[in-house]
Order: sequence, then structure tokens, then C-alpha cells
Amino acid sequence: MANIVIVGTQWGDEGKGKIVDLLAEYADIVVRFQGGNNAGHTMVVDGEEFISHLVPSGILQGKTCVIGNGMVVDPEVLISEIDYLIEKGIDVSPERLKISEKAHLIMPYHKKLDAAKEEASRKQRIGTTGRGIGPCYEDKASRRGIRFIGLLDAGGFAEKVRTAAEEKNFFLTQFYSSDAVSADEIISSYGGYRDRLAPYVTDISVFIDRGVREGRQVLFEGAQGTHLDIDHGTYPYVTSSNTVSGNACCGTGMGPKQITDVTGIAKAYTTRVGQGPFPTELFDETGEQIQKKGAEFGATTGRRRRCGWIDTVILRNAVRLNSLTGFAITKLDVLGGLEEIKICTAYKYQGKPISEFPADLNVLSRCEPVYESLPGWREDISNIRRFEDLPENTKNFLKRIEALTETPVDIVSVGPGRNETIVMKNPFAG
Ligand code: GDP
Ligand code: IMO
Ligand code: MG
Repeated sequence: MANIVIVGTQWGDEGKGKIVDLLAEYADIVVRFQGGNNAGHTMVVDGEEFISHLVPSGILQGKTCVIGNGMVVDPEVLISEIDYLIEKGIDVSPERLKISEKAHLIMPYHKKLDAAKEEASRKQRIGTTGRGIGPCYEDKASRRGIRFIGLLDAGGFAEKVRTAAEEKNFFLTQFYSSDAVSADEIISSYGGYRDRLAPYVTDISVFIDRGVREGRQVLFEGAQGTHLDIDHGTYPYVTSSNTVSGNACCGTGMGPKQITDVTGIAKAYTTRVGQGPFPTELFDETGEQIQKKGAEFGATTGRRRRCGWIDTVILRNAVRLNSLTGFAITKLDVLGGLEEIKICTAYKYQGKPISEFPADLNVLSRCEPVYESLPGWREDISNIRRFEDLPENTKNFLKRIEALTETPVDIVSVGPGRNETIVMKNPFAG
């Protein structure tokens, strides 16, 4: 029996959706444990593309999917995602999808505050996805949030909304010179969401535990990436939740002894959306080539992703922070055709080498990457399905990543499709 956590190791968009969809075949329950619809996870099955923002990426494999208590949920977005999946012929009944009664609700004032805060701090803006994620987690931490359990109690919900609206409207209008929200409108629209979503709401800790006791396998789907973690990432240029594997426990109500493996997803290069330091970022033609060939545009906001070489300083950081047992390296096909491929092995700060990721952004933003150069490959590798069949230079690139991170590469992705994958070791196979 195996319970696997999948996390992003870089700054998000590593291809988690694809790998979760692939491995969900071997799982019975797929759970998301943090984040909200700031995430955009893409799956391509038989040439058809699906993007999920809230529903776990196991839904296409017909598995039971769970929205964990660590998530922040915009109910309007969730309902439209459920409708989109139903339209595509996918079963999204309450048998298939469970929502934690403890998950927090993103409210209209959270979205307005997200936008207003970004607007007000032009110089130091984070470049958020504007989905209300930060303000919702702020309310959770300050114990003013509204959870699904609170939505189900109509009278109590109305009271909570009125109290919250009074405070938020003061900030919105007086501090941010923005528009106020209407408590009555929120109460009415969220009443509709209550009717639609109530059948899905349950105690997911009990549900998952029962499943595990009956021998079911669980896949925990992380969103964002290790370096967007609120504690361990490039603070303040991070998201507002813990994205590392440890939060798979807090965000679902499972104990740590149940987790058997942790797979870290890493692109064969690095990308980042939004603001914040990025030591291996490329500003030249190679960066542009990778951006174009990799179609590096955000699945949530459509923003152009910044691109750069793979960075093993951050990958080693991810190995330690997540207890990674293996890597899945994605988008390896995108590097095909480059004469030379670089791997960052360390940083140099004020002329001295640094091998650990610095917490101080003043240091990090002045770090220069130290590169090792490897010869590229000309062949199109997207039709290859066995490691042995990869060109020698491609194999050497992967072996170098393994050596520099002291972690095995278990899976290699050579295209967006579910089948465009080389599996050397399936973490569910034990
Ligand atoms: P996630 O947020 O980590 O799930 O990643 P996204 O879905 O935001 O971004 C990854 C993008 O790369 C999506 O458009 C995927 O379809 C695509 N993708 C995933 N794996 C591969 C791969 O191996 N090769 C190519 N060319 N594209 C891939
Ligand atoms: P997936 O799950 C890439 C980034 C935003 C911004 C910062 C804070 O698809 O990998 P937020 O809206 O969370 O307050 O924004 O985090 N960000 C992501 N970048 N992939 C994501 O999710 C992201 N979710 C948030 O661009 O820099
Ligand atoms: Mg994404």
C-alpha cells in the first residue's frame, strides 16, 4: 500500500497536473491540500486538454477527488468547474467529489482586497493571480474566515458576512479608495452556492482515514511550488500557503506516518510567473526560444512565464524540504535542438560560492549562477517511451541531475499527453 505526495519543486507550473493525472490510475483517492484557484493544472488526454483550478487532477481517471481543509475555495469558480467537467462527460457527483467542511471560502471582498493591495503597492507588488488567495488566508489566520461548515448554517452565515463586510468595506473605501461590497448580494449569491455544494461537504479526514484502513491508496496533489511556500519560498514573493509536502498532513487531517513516497516535479528548465528573484533567468534568445517552444504562458492568468536554466540549488533545497524520494522531470522535449544545455550547480555571492539557497532576498538577488555546460541533442524525443532509447546526451543530462541532487529521476515527461511519458519507477509500485 502506498500513499504518495506530489509537489512542485520550483516556482509552480512544473507539470503537476500531468503527472497527477498519470499516477492517479494507481490511486483510489486524490486530494488537494492547499491553495485555491491560483493553481492551473493542465492534463492532456487523447489530444483533449483539460485545465483544473480547484478539482484535483484525478477526476479524469474516475477517482474520488477531495478538496482538503487546507484549501481556499471560491465557490463560484468551483461550480463552474464542476459544470465544465460534467459538460465533458465526466462524473462529478458527490460520490466522486468531496469538499472538506473546514475548507475556507473565498469571498468577493477577498478578491477586491487582493486587487486593491496589488494596485496600492505598485513598487512592491507580488504579481498575485488576483484570485483573493492572500486575503482569504489572512482571514483564516486571524480567525475571521468563513468555512464551508459556516456556509451550511444560513443564519450564522448571514451574520458573519454582515460583520465581515462592515470591516472590509472600511478598508476598501477608506484605505484603498476602492468600491464597497454589498452584504445582501453576497448572502443571496452564496445562498445559491450553498444549495448546490451542500451535498459535497463532509469530514474528509474521516473519509480518507476510512479509505486507508480499507486498503485504498491516496495521492496528495500539491499546488504552486516549493519556492512559492510561505515559509520556505522567496518571501514575500510567495503564495499564502505552505506548498511543501508536510502540509499534505495539515491540509487534509492525515498523520505523517501514512505517507510512503514524495515525488517532486521539476521542469527540465525553470519558469516563474509574477515578481521575485530568479537566479537562472535568461534574458536572451535561448530564454525566448524555451518560452516559445515550451508555450510558457500561465494556465490561470495567461501571463508570459519567465524562463531560465534548471537550477540544482533550488532542487536540492526541494529535496530536503519535502523529503523527496524521486523526481519527475517534465518538458524534456522542449530542450531538444539546443546546442548547449546549462545546469546551475551553485551560486556565487560576492565572489564566494554558496551551495545552499539563501533566505535573504538581498543576497539571493545578487547571487550569480555557476553553470556546468552539457552538449544538447538534436533528436525529437517525444515518441520515446523507454529510458534506454533516449539519446546519450539526454541520458547524461538526467544522470547529472540525479548526481547533483542525490535523488533518482523516476519519471520523465516528453510531451503534454498522458502517454508521452517514460516511467522508470512508479512510486505506487513500492
Ligand atoms: P502545473 O500547474 O504544475 O500542473 O503545470 P501547468 O499545467 O500550469 O503547466 C505545464 C504546461 O506544460 C501545461 O501546458 C502542460 O500541458 C505542459 N506539459 C506538461 N508536461 C509536458 C512535457 O513533458 N512536454 C511538453 N511539451 N509540455 C508539457
Ligand atoms: P500552479 O499550481 C505558478 C504565484 C503568482 C504570484 C504568487 C502569489 O499552477 O503551479 P497568489 O495569487 O497565490 O497570491 O500569487 O504566486 N502563483 C503561481 N505561479 N503556478 C501557480 O500554481 C501559482 N499560484 C500562485 O504568480 O507570483
Ligand atoms: Mg499551473
